[in-house]
Amino acid sequence: MLARKMQFRLLPSIGVTLIATVVLVSCQHTPQSTDTAPAPATLGDANTRAAFLNGWRFQQGVPASFGEHAMVVSNSMLASEAGVEVLKQGGNAVDAAVATGFALAVTFPFAGNIGGGGFMNIRMADGRSAAIDYREVAPLASTRNMYVDANGKLTDKSTVGYLASGVPGAVAGLTEALKKYGTLSLAQVMAPAIRLARDGFVVDSAFARSLNGSKKLVTQFEGRSLFFPNGNVLAPGSRLVQRDLARSLSLIAAEGANAFYRGSIADSLVANMQRGGGIITKVDLANYTPVWRTPIRSTYRGYTLFTMPPASSGGITMTETLNVLENFAPLPAFGSTQYVHLLTESYRRAFTDRNQTLGDPAFIKNPVDKLISKSYAKSLAGQIEPSRASKTAAFNAGVEPTHTTHYSVVDAKGNAVATTTTLNGGFGSGVWVRGGGFFMNNEMDDFAAQPGSPNMFGLVQGESNAIQPGKRMLSAMSPTIVLDQQGKLLMVTGAAGGPTIITATMEVILNVIEFHMTLADAMRAPRMHHQALPDTIRVEADGFSGAVLDSLKGMGHAVREQTGLANVNSILRVAGGWHGVREPRSVGGAVGY
Ligand code: GLY
Repeated sequence: MLARKMQFRLLPSIGVTLIATVVLVSCQHTPQSTDTAPAPATLGDANTRAAFLNGWRFQQGVPASFGEHAMVVSNSMLASEAGVEVLKQGGNAVDAAVATGFALAVTFPFAGNIGGGGFMNIRMADGRSAAIDYREVAPLASTRNMYVDANGKLTDKSTVGYLASGVPGAVAGLTEALKKYGTLSLAQVMAPAIRLARDGFVVDSAFARSLNGSKKLVTQFEGRSLFFPNGNVLAPGSRLVQRDLARSLSLIAAEGANAFYRGSIADSLVANMQRGGGIITKVDLANYTPVWRTPIRSTYRGYTLFTMPPASSGGITMTETLNVLENFAPLPAFGSTQYVHLLTESYRRAFTDRNQTLGDPAFIKNPVDKLISKSYAKSLAGQIEPSRASKTAAFNAGVEPTHTTHYSVVDAKGNAVATTTTLNGGFGSGVWVRGGGFFMNNEMDDFAAQPGSPNMFGLVQGESNAIQPGKRMLSAMSPTIVLDQQGKLLMVTGAAGGPTIITATMEVILNVIEFHMTLADAMRAPRMHHQALPDTIRVEADGFSGAVLDSLKGMGHAVREQTGLANVNSILRVAGGWHGVREPRSVGGAVGY
């Protein structure tokens, strides 16, 4: 079974070992070693193989939220409670996910939305699985070079203002998911969101801070008087009532998605576009359709993953990376030089394929079978040198904003839903639809606005993701469902954070199934990221030792430290129920019962 053995010189690392033997194996499963602790009977219940660095801001051993029957985890405690309210009324996980999604549009307008889009990954307890793609599409009047000025330079119009938006998909996606897999009426699942918008909720300091951080963007447009009354951000402790949004949500609850795509909400949206020079028309809205897709089903050391296919790149990129890593058993110690190097080299290859070849399947042929095949991954694994970085051309990346939001739901029957939804940047394009009461996305920036030039995430992408009317822009969203080696639901997870969505989601999964961390530790563990270009490993500051970073540099890697990478919300099955953990780097709530 062993293809070859290589001595990997491990330089000082978190934890232990100076020299380790890393085994390159054929694609067969190799049991993990038990070098520091025996594998616990139930993953996530007890032991960890990894110790965090002293001084890392999230220490180990913090408990997760526990639910005996069910769990909802999102970036808003109120939205998680909305999901649980619907579960307790007898709703299933899809009912609860739709309730949470609409509630996030009210309580987390930073990324929760009806003016954006997303992806929902569903796994029913009876074994059915499905994915719904409600990604925005480019308006019919969009053109390939609409964001390039006369001098050939990219403008900021793909990120700010009326031209930045794709045609929103959220309302169509959520209502369609409910129709096919839900059990309650739209009015029932939307009731908590309508109540939160109509009666208001108390603004907390995190909400005020996130608004204030986007003051320049939001106050350029018509949301300024709602969110910055008298020019100042809503004070913590004040009550935010969103009348326009309450009206929109009530119309959707009563009339379905038509209210948004053909009715009075469409009228407000198009009037708003016309006032500001945007190009979304009534025809664009009426044409919008969500697409049911078959999730990518892959395996990693006997675990089964259901991930999102294109128009998201998340599933393919995660699968390709995990398939490469599967060739190395056990993985090097968590946080060690060799661990960061191996993940980097795997990410580099998977992101190179992602950035160069993937796009909307309605427009291009994605080489899915090749990219997710074990044999292709084996050939990539064989290229990785144990002590030398491979190279890709460098350029300056922009600052990584956080944005998007992921929520995970499990119900008492074991139905599971992983959903990621986004406006792209925080508060999207900044454009707020008067009369509609919601922010519009700036998702057009997820296209390669100028193939070969970086977007707001520093991603350099190719022609396959160039702008075309009616096309979905490539996403990194990675709502993921994991089954254990017996085929039983184990994890529901996913993230926000542009391309770091893919790497953070995967690292939380690896922390549980490779390093046997509790879910709380898996979420608190320091993260790293590499996306092929820029050719720089990004690591969370204070999470990796100086010696490890020096060793990586010595191998030829560029390394950049930053505070915080991605925003993950996860659920894990444990003895007697479910652990839920909201992102410790952000806000939110895990609510179980
Ligand atoms: N807007 C971020 C993504 O879809 O990847």
